[in-house]
Amino acid sequence: MNILITGGAGFIGSHTVRHFVDRYPDSHIVNLDVLTYAGNLQNLKDIENAPNYTFIRGNIRDEALIKDIFKEYQITHVIHLAAESHVDRSIGDPMLFLYTNIIGTAVLLQVAKKYWENDYSGKLFYHVSTDEVYGSLGQDSGLFTEVTPYDPRSPYSASKASSDHLVRAYHHTYGMPVVISNCSNNYGPYQFPEKLIPLMIHNILHKKELPVYGKGENVRDWLYVEDHVRAIDTVLQKGLSGQTYNIGGHNEWKNLDIVHLVCDIMDSKLGRKAGESRNLIAFVQDRPGHDLRYAIDASKIENELKWTPESTFETGIVKTIDWYLDNQEWLKAVTSGVYKTYYDRQYNTGRKGKLTE
Ligand code: NAD
Ligand code: TYD
Repeated sequence: MNILITGGAGFIGSHTVRHFVDRYPDSHIVNLDVLTYAGNLQNLKDIENAPNYTFIRGNIRDEALIKDIFKEYQITHVIHLAAESHVDRSIGDPMLFLYTNIIGTAVLLQVAKKYWENDYSGKLFYHVSTDEVYGSLGQDSGLFTEVTPYDPRSPYSASKASSDHLVRAYHHTYGMPVVISNCSNNYGPYQFPEKLIPLMIHNILHKKELPVYGKGENVRDWLYVEDHVRAIDTVLQKGLSGQTYNIGGHNEWKNLDIVHLVCDIMDSKLGRKAGESRNLIAFVQDRPGHDLRYAIDASKIENELKWTPESTFETGIVKTIDWYLDNQEWLKAVTSGVYKTYYDRQYNTGRKGKLTE
């Protein structure tokens, strides 16, 4: 396989790149990432010199660049993760999400079609998507399945829903082999500290306020990032073209319960008085249009592709907290913005993206 992974310098992308580089030494892995605030090559230091790995800085909306990559590396598989991924940012700057997540996906599909359409055998376009396309569940109203109607409610989820639709359209209209997976909330090392769990870890460490939206009663279904990456590998290898697979950990938590848990584990690890960090919790104004509950029925991927999560939340959350405590330099660099300046110096030689810069 010659695999183009987009967004490989981000959170899930960097775990995915590392997994495929290590696991498939006979395949070539091309990581295309424009390095927004969320992309950080420090995440991939350990594999940057692997012989089966190439990093290219560029924008998924740059059609000429994508064509060059398909031609030069004879791309057979695309694992598309590049996206603007944070709901709160999508509320402030929806257009950026539409340009990156919708138009960017369209450009990739169009180039893949051009290069593959004479012979689609051995080719696959894999879109890594989110369960947020299904909208919001009530407190006790069931689970998202693959046939739940789409009902996105934030600019982020609407943009991901649109890109899912485009991927399916290329399958039905042009016969392109595609798969889509819709995963629940991920957590683990290298997640940018704007998302709930790493933000709380960062703020507890620095004794800063812990902003809980509304009453903290919203529910998310959490999956350890390496379990998601194993699922991506499973879907790539065994998924049927045209199919969708939901990925999740059967692990629903109310936000406030997670914040309490992280506070308590960190108090014990940092030698603080029991209960000390809970005093940092501040109930702040709710996110506009805040989805109440996400929860995944993952039985299709479990039954048909034989994937199950390996980490329990209890082990995963401790591994995650330990990683952030052991990698405070990383945390400092991404919150100070130093890493961007550093990598801009190193990689500011190629083509540059427009709207994401
Ligand atoms: P992330 O924000 O950590 O990383 C996104 C990466 O994409 C960054 O490295 C960024 O530089 C890159 N990127 C952004 N715009 C680009 C562009 N125009 N061209 C090239 N690269 C660009 O995101 P993440 O949390 O790792 O999510 C990765 C994918 O998985 C996204 O598509 C997201 O929708 C999906 N997803 C995420 C979660 C989650 O819980 N984080 C859950 C389900 C699905
Ligand atoms: P987030 O990590 O942004 O993921 P998503 O919105 O994609 O599910 O948020 C997870 C939950 O935590 C969500 O219900 C919003 C809430 N939240 C807070 O209460 N405070 C915060 O500071 C953040 C970032 C999120």
